[in-house]
Amino acid sequence: MCRRLNPRVPHLLLSFFCSSILLSSLPELITAAVVTLDSIEIYNTHEFFGSSPEVYFKCKGENRTIYLPDVKKKHELYIFKGEESWQPLTELEEKKCKRCGIYEKDSFVKPDDIFDEWEFCASDFTSADGKYIHFKEKEFNATFLCPDCLPLEGVASNHTDVPRNKEKGMHWALVLLICVLVTTFIVFGAVSAYKYWQKRKKQQEQARFLKLFEESDDIEDELGIGPLSHVI
Ligand SMILES: *[C@@H]1O[C@H](CO)[C@@H](O)[C@H](O)[C@H]1NC(C)=O
Ligand SMILES: *[C@@H]1O[C@H](CO)[C@@H](O)[C@H](O)[C@H]1NC(C)=O
Ligand SMILES: *[C@@H]1O[C@H](CO)[C@@H](O)[C@H](O)[C@H]1NC(C)=O
Repeated sequence: MCRRLNPRVPHLLLSFFCSSILLSSLPELITAAVVTLDSIEIYNTHEFFGSSPEVYFKCKGENRTIYLPDVKKKHELYIFKGEESWQPLTELEEKKCKRCGIYEKDSFVKPDDIFDEWEFCASDFTSADGKYIHFKEKEFNATFLCPDCLPLEGVASNHTDVPRNKEKGMHWALVLLICVLVTTFIVFGAVSAYKYWQKRKKQQEQARFLKLFEESDDIEDELGIGPLSHVI
């Protein structure tokens, strides 16, 4: 006999389908925001003999050391496009700061000189243009750019963030709505297919039954005896 259609199967398929949709949209919400260096001006070099400094940016726990090859002179403002070969500097997560710094590689054995080392957070990027200025007296003034840090962090000014957050909420609502709709369609489809199949089977059985009767009538007629059904 035909196996009964397991009503759980469409449901299982559907949860799988929906969770994969949700998961595929999740990275977009979690991924870190890219930070680039917008400009820097150094006020000091730590070299004794006036040789040009090797300035670099580095975050603790990261392997990348970002040398700023152009930054050689004091009191000169270097402005970057954000597309330089060594960009971006790093990536920041929403709720996790990184300890980063700007250093100067030392040509001697002693440890590298520190311009400054600080907690670099997505929430620092509060200005509407996604910029954050880190200034240390007598050392440097650097502007960092992170346009994606704004929607990540809901702290900043009310007029810039709210629409982006709303957008995100709408995105979720849309995914949910599509999931619900697709679920409904598939469940309804499966149920009606099952009902149709049941009906067809019933009709076929009835047809076969009727055919059996007709055949037995034929046999009775041929043999010239009473209805077979009475005998049985
Ligand atoms: C950093 O480099 C070391 C060896 O150079 C390696 O073992 C480690 O996995 C690297 N870490 C990351 C996060 O790439
Ligand atoms: C640091 O640099 C930015 C951008 O160049 C500038 O707007 C700001 O006034 C500077 N800050 C200081 C203290 O020099
Ligand atoms: C945004 O918030 C600040 C205080 O955090 C307030 O002074 C300002 O009026 C608000 N702006 C709007 C457009 O609501």
